Amino acid sequence: MTLKWQLHGATTTYGVRIFDAGEPQPNSTLMLDYWGPAGGESSWPEPPPRHSFATRADLAPLEYASVGTRHTHRSELIVEHDDGLAGARWTYVDHGLDKARLAVRFVDDTGRLALTQHIVMHGEFDVVEKWIDVQNLSDDHEVLLPRVMSASWSFLAPDGARVHYLAGAWGRENNRETVDLRYGSLQIGSRQGITGHLFAPAMQIEAAGVRGAYGVSLSWSGSWTMIADAHPGGLVRVSTGVDDETTTVRLAPGRTFSTPHSLGTYSPEGADGVSRAWHRYQRAALARSISPEHQPVVYNSWFATTYDVRPDHQLALARTAAEVGVEAFVIDDGWFKGRTGDTAGLGDWTPDPSFFPDGLRPLADQVIELGLRFGLWIEPECVNPDSDLFRAHPDWVYRSPTREPVLMRNQLVLNLSLPEVRDHLVGVLRLLLTELPITYLKWDMNRPITDPGSPTSEWAISHGNGYHTLMRLLREEFPHVTVEACSGGGGRIDPAVLGISDVVWPSDETGPRDRLLIQDGFLRAYPPHVMSSWVTDLPGTRDRTPTSDGFRFVMAMAGALGVGSDLGQWTPEQRKLAATAIALYKELRPVLHTGEVYFHGDPRGSRLYALEYVTDERVVLLVWDTSRERIGDHRLDTRLTPPPRVQLVGIDATGNYQTRHDGAVHSGAALRGVGVTVPWEFAIDADILVLDRIPR
Ligand code: DGJ
Repeated sequence: MTLKWQLHGATTTYGVRIFDAGEPQPNSTLMLDYWGPAGGESSWPEPPPRHSFATRADLAPLEYASVGTRHTHRSELIVEHDDGLAGARWTYVDHGLDKARLAVRFVDDTGRLALTQHIVMHGEFDVVEKWIDVQNLSDDHEVLLPRVMSASWSFLAPDGARVHYLAGAWGRENNRETVDLRYGSLQIGSRQGITGHLFAPAMQIEAAGVRGAYGVSLSWSGSWTMIADAHPGGLVRVSTGVDDETTTVRLAPGRTFSTPHSLGTYSPEGADGVSRAWHRYQRAALARSISPEHQPVVYNSWFATTYDVRPDHQLALARTAAEVGVEAFVIDDGWFKGRTGDTAGLGDWTPDPSFFPDGLRPLADQVIELGLRFGLWIEPECVNPDSDLFRAHPDWVYRSPTREPVLMRNQLVLNLSLPEVRDHLVGVLRLLLTELPITYLKWDMNRPITDPGSPTSEWAISHGNGYHTLMRLLREEFPHVTVEACSGGGGRIDPAVLGISDVVWPSDETGPRDRLLIQDGFLRAYPPHVMSSWVTDLPGTRDRTPTSDGFRFVMAMAGALGVGSDLGQWTPEQRKLAATAIALYKELRPVLHTGEVYFHGDPRGSRLYALEYVTDERVVLLVWDTSRERIGDHRLDTRLTPPPRVQLVGIDATGNYQTRHDGAVHSGAALRGVGVTVPWEFAIDADILVLDRIPR
């Protein structure tokens, strides 16, 4: 009898069965049976019994393959026994099924290793979660795992697949890239001990002739890899897990290693539908709450003051921030001892006595009296060599015994696998958060890890786990503190981070058009309520072309709006605009943070780019004209240019809606078919359209 299981979500089904390689020795493992709309049956043909230069196991959509089981294509697991035997062949032992949680256990042909494959269907969201436990069963043998990935996802793709992913670098994260993969591999990842700026751990897969699209992501904040592999046989496989260049897992007798978790989802609505599926899951399963409590309107001092943090200046900024409607005032880098630039101070988390002789309390109290919450920036994982902490504990950083560690931004990274380092950081966090009335903490990390040194081959795993543990401690002991995760902009964003923070800072680039592009990519993988977005002064870091102030406010409204401008320089008109925009944003925040997001156009290619946020009662359309001519010297006369229309796609065709700016009533069908006219009322190059559903 073939053992098979189906896990049912609200609209999709994930099915697996035991696959027998049909070889002389026992060799069985799990293979995918079906993944798609609910109600489907087995969709994968049995691999033929004979095939030149490939075994049955090479042709089957195996859920997780080991070297030794699969011979022709890449495997997810490499095993090396200490007596020279390499690879593994598995035999089914038993399984446990509890509603939508399946765990299937195998033992290898030496009897020394157990492999448990976990598959959980989060039915409400149609998200499948998979991971692996590998256990060394022996009393006296060590086993090395030079590669131990989390999961593999298979797609029927007779003509290869279209793979969408997010790529970039510091200051230009999350640019959307697409490749058509017919044969061979596309590999993305990080070797940096952090998720990294280069790629987001997510792919979207579309196959010609297959309805809908699939999404795969990895919930992990250390080094990682994700490989899309297209085989001639019409199979595309995406495998993901911890990076094997920086990690070898050493299984001592009795030890079990559990991998990070990988997530998969299917949407009949194509690639954009995959983004909405991720958003639904992230809102409900990862966010602890979505409300002003943990997504407040923030003022952040970084762009206005950098390291020049003086109490009077900060208070003046806070006064204006309060006037325009900001809810939390956050002092960024530069408040602590010796921090007059990036060469000193990291590690010494006490206020600089030359500016704050009585500590931060007086300033914090004054900020709170203005009706604002008080917040601080911190970078716990790093240290400058020019700091008291490093002078006292030079051995607390990652370094090899024989080499000088590599400095980046004049800083080194603390070795979180050392218990004394973790204890020290717990002490630092507890002291700060109990001594000061802090209710907002921005946690930064401004460099990758380069010198893990000895003795561990698992530093990238232990650092990621150490970071997660400290962030969880914040959430458990200080639930009133909102946590913003940051790593030199978007260097550490992944589903695991979304589960332990409230918002994330997606990029250090706030130049308007570049930012729009970064935000477009960000929203393909992550939801608006976590996307911290501040209005800053022109020009941006890289993008130096001007836009209106309104353009930048509408852009910040696409996520969790904040302000980072030098408010002392603002004109009365700018303050008025800020107050109007922030009040409107606060009113629309529930729609912007919990609505379904529909994308219109491409900020790189199309002149008009829009985001449509849809709830049952209200639709908000944010629109930008990305062409440069609309402001500055070449100001276009809008009377001569017909206003554009946007055809709404998420709106209910059977409903009736009233556009707030002109009071007109439109049917949902007309808004979908003919579209809504953009009057450019809010700004010459950006607009906010609110459509209220008329009760039946
Ligand atoms: C990098 C962050 O992305 C910025 O927002 C700012 O906090 C600086 N670090 C401070 O050093």
